[in-house]
Amino acid sequence: MPTQQHFDVLIIGTGSAGLMSALQLSEDLSVALIAKDKLLEGSSYYAQGGVSAVLNTQDNFQSHIDDTLSTGNNLGNEKAIRFMIEQAPAAIQSLEKLGVSFTQEQGQYHLTTEGGHSNRRVAHVADKTGKSIQTNLLQSVKAKKNIHLFENFIAIDLLMKSKQCFGAYILNKSNNEVESFIAHKTILATGGASKVYLYTSNPDTSTGDGIAMAYRAHCNIVNMEFTQFHPTCLYHPHAKSFLISEALRGEGAKLVLPNGDAFMHKYDERLELAPRDIVARAIDSEMKANGFDCVYLDISFKDKDWITSHFPTIDKKCTSFGIDIAEQAIPVVPAAHYTCGGVQVDINAHSTIENLYAIGEVAHAGVHGANRMASNSLLECIVFAKACANHINQSIFKHPHSNFDDWDASRASPSQEKVMVTHLWDEVRRIMWNFVGIVRSNKRLHAAQMRLSQIQNEVNEYYHLYLISSDLVELRNLITTAQIIVKSAISRTESRGLHYNEDCPNTSANIQNTIIKL
Ligand code: FAD
Ligand code: SIN
Repeated sequence: MPTQQHFDVLIIGTGSAGLMSALQLSEDLSVALIAKDKLLEGSSYYAQGGVSAVLNTQDNFQSHIDDTLSTGNNLGNEKAIRFMIEQAPAAIQSLEKLGVSFTQEQGQYHLTTEGGHSNRRVAHVADKTGKSIQTNLLQSVKAKKNIHLFENFIAIDLLMKSKQCFGAYILNKSNNEVESFIAHKTILATGGASKVYLYTSNPDTSTGDGIAMAYRAHCNIVNMEFTQFHPTCLYHPHAKSFLISEALRGEGAKLVLPNGDAFMHKYDERLELAPRDIVARAIDSEMKANGFDCVYLDISFKDKDWITSHFPTIDKKCTSFGIDIAEQAIPVVPAAHYTCGGVQVDINAHSTIENLYAIGEVAHAGVHGANRMASNSLLECIVFAKACANHINQSIFKHPHSNFDDWDASRASPSQEKVMVTHLWDEVRRIMWNFVGIVRSNKRLHAAQMRLSQIQNEVNEYYHLYLISSDLVELRNLITTAQIIVKSAISRTESRGLHYNEDCPNTSANIQNTIIKL
């Protein structure tokens, strides 16, 4: 039996963006907070490096702003960047108030550095910053009576009327029923789309759902050609792209070839601490030129005690695969890590559709440009979650809820062809990895575009014939997002930051965002 539920605010996603926004909303608003998997599952939980903020007198806002702009190859929006960076110390304080205990040494924050930062400004909780933030945020959310949590509920599409958003159709994964969640304001906090690539540092939740839903609702989607590849994921058949934090390089770890030779001096004078686009391309080039399966990251010059206290999670994981990082170099490869583009929003996180907001990795607020600087993402989640909640608190008008038709599945039948879904999932991710990866060419981009459009037709047909399932919802979003990435990449006829096309290797003097709209 289809059901309808009514709330003041619907938040789709329980990463740090979703949880923080829920906590900042006025307690007299009823809030539905939904997650398609376990409440803690999402990129936020796995964040290692930390949260960047100006936290000591040797540093200053302008330096953090300049580093962010220059790492983003001057495509970032300076106004949005300034807003985020000036709010960063307050964001750290809010997290502390919620119970996050950042690592200290001698009574001060222990600040690390990562690629692109010209000062030590990354506050962290050892190498499990995300776990600490998420468990504390969730605990506070659970204490709030106005917030209703829905675990294993996956949003399918936004409920739209007269070009305004009124909630979403949501599949309850436990009984396979589609419910209408009707709300005055809807916040997309669904994370990124790195699962569109075969190899990724991200958990399974990052399938671009929010971007695809917003696109289908006619939102502007911006700069999707900029997928960030993290240079160092553990290379091991059973590691499923476990991340080796850039903070190791911040502490002096060297990238070396299998024979132990360093190579970053050939690519950038900042060596291992050059921005991620440069380091990932350097590794890709060495691997392709020499036919290597991986390169190595060496921190074995540090003693075991230091390693286990600063990087306990990484040390434990590597040990479980028989790699003692105090004795030997770690085999690493680049993998898709972060979606710099997304749903276009303003400084209040409001999208181009009335009553629809987007925060965190799903959004494009203009703070990352053509390449995100390390540890600026959790910061973005916290700052824009607060801005979004403040805007809703001030602007919400509780008029009677509109009526919507229930989800109609009367013409769909159970699928006997589930192999199509698994096959197409795999095919999309392989196409993206092989044809739309770290280094691109016009030929490969057009080949990807052609095959992805055939796959889109096959998915559309399947979607209309068969009963909905969570895998199908994700596949539909994956193929839509992949096509937006390729279309954006084709339309950028220059190389900038994370988008490197060997057929147009120069950077244009004309700085422009790529906007894709249905
Ligand atoms: P997520 O945390 O990914 O959460 C997304 C949520 O949306 C999940 O709850 C998911 O279930 C839900 N969802 C998605 N689709 C649907 C749907 N259709 N219906 C219902 N729910 C849905 N950044 C930093 O700044 N510092 C770091 O140290 C750092 N380390 C990282 C390490 C790793 C391994 C990874 C993967 C990323 C790291 N990042 C880091 C990036 C950063 O963690 C993410 O960009 C950020 O956490 C994204 O938060 P989010 O709230 O936007 O999304
Ligand atoms: C890392 O710890 O290397 C990830 C940091 C980030 O993605 O910002």
